[in-house]
Amino acid sequence: MKEQLEKIYESAQKDLSASCSIADVEEVRAKYLSRKGEFNEIKKNLKNLSDEDKRVVGSLANEITQKLEAAIRAKHSEFYKKELNEKLLTERIDVTLPGKYIPMGKTHPLTSTTNEIVEIFQSLGFSVVPQENSPEVETEYYNFDALNVPKDHPARDVQDTFYTEFAKNVVLRSQTSGAQIHAMEGKNPPIRVISPGRVYRNENINARKNNLFHQIEGLYVDKDITFGDLKGVLNEFIRIYFGASRPTRFRSSFFPFTEPSAEVDVQCIMCEGKGCRTCSGTGWLEVLGCGMVDPNVLRGVGIDPDVYTGFAFGMGVERLAMLKYAIDDIRLFFNNDERFLDQF
Ligand code: DAH
Repeated sequence: MKEQLEKIYESAQKDLSASCSIADVEEVRAKYLSRKGEFNEIKKNLKNLSDEDKRVVGSLANEITQKLEAAIRAKHSEFYKKELNEKLLTERIDVTLPGKYIPMGKTHPLTSTTNEIVEIFQSLGFSVVPQENSPEVETEYYNFDALNVPKDHPARDVQDTFYTEFAKNVVLRSQTSGAQIHAMEGKNPPIRVISPGRVYRNENINARKNNLFHQIEGLYVDKDITFGDLKGVLNEFIRIYFGASRPTRFRSSFFPFTEPSAEVDVQCIMCEGKGCRTCSGTGWLEVLGCGMVDPNVLRGVGIDPDVYTGFAFGMGVERLAMLKYAIDDIRLFFNNDERFLDQF
């Protein structure tokens, strides 16, 4: 048995000196020293020896396994150092290398234009309605009926308005004017609010029209509100937004929810009124519709039109941005081309 022990020890030493990594060393440990290792197998047979032999062979076995354990530990630590050094050399971080460029996001020009317009109206005493009072998915009631739009009005046609599949009367709103109804329902004047948001129209897309765009709705209902107040507020808005020198004009118009109605045009900045592709040759771009709230609309939300009057307006954010920054194509707002967005 002594010889057997020595032979195993010899072969363990051979295996150990042939090992070239921590993994190899661990393999040697498992082969010889683990519970199922070769030395343990021998120790199991000690019980068949005489007491005297048990003592001699037992102590030899202990001595040999201790020596082997020490040798394995030494080899392990040798490889550990070596592997660590290699790692440090190959994985060294060069702190002088330039860092990764993290581009900063910017506010989209439509967002900054909306914020600017909202701030102007806030300075004129208007407050912004809560988002839940201005849903993008509306029933026909808010988008059309409550706004006095006749059942056979062409705007209701699927050619112009996107109907959803939720229910036959649910649409993607085609105007923010429904927010007027939400703002007046169950409330008493004075009401002086604006409501910015997205609108959708089933349009042929071109330089001036996209089927998604943004509007800002305004509403002021109180006693003795006149068309003069409407003109005063909108002229003041235009003066602040564009500066005093930009030619604008009020033009009479028609909307089912206002009487009388008007539209405001701003001179085209691209051609300075001469006529170009952006203004389709007219020299002007329409930026908003407005008027005195129709008595039918007030009555519908329980406000007495004999006591209260009001004005309303709805402006196109894209158009206002185009006219301020000389952007000649509405589609640029939606392409997310960095060469465009970087300019703001
Ligand atoms: N909703 C109209 C549109 O999208 C714009 C408009 C016109 C809004 C007159 C108003 C208004 O509030 O009084 O074309």
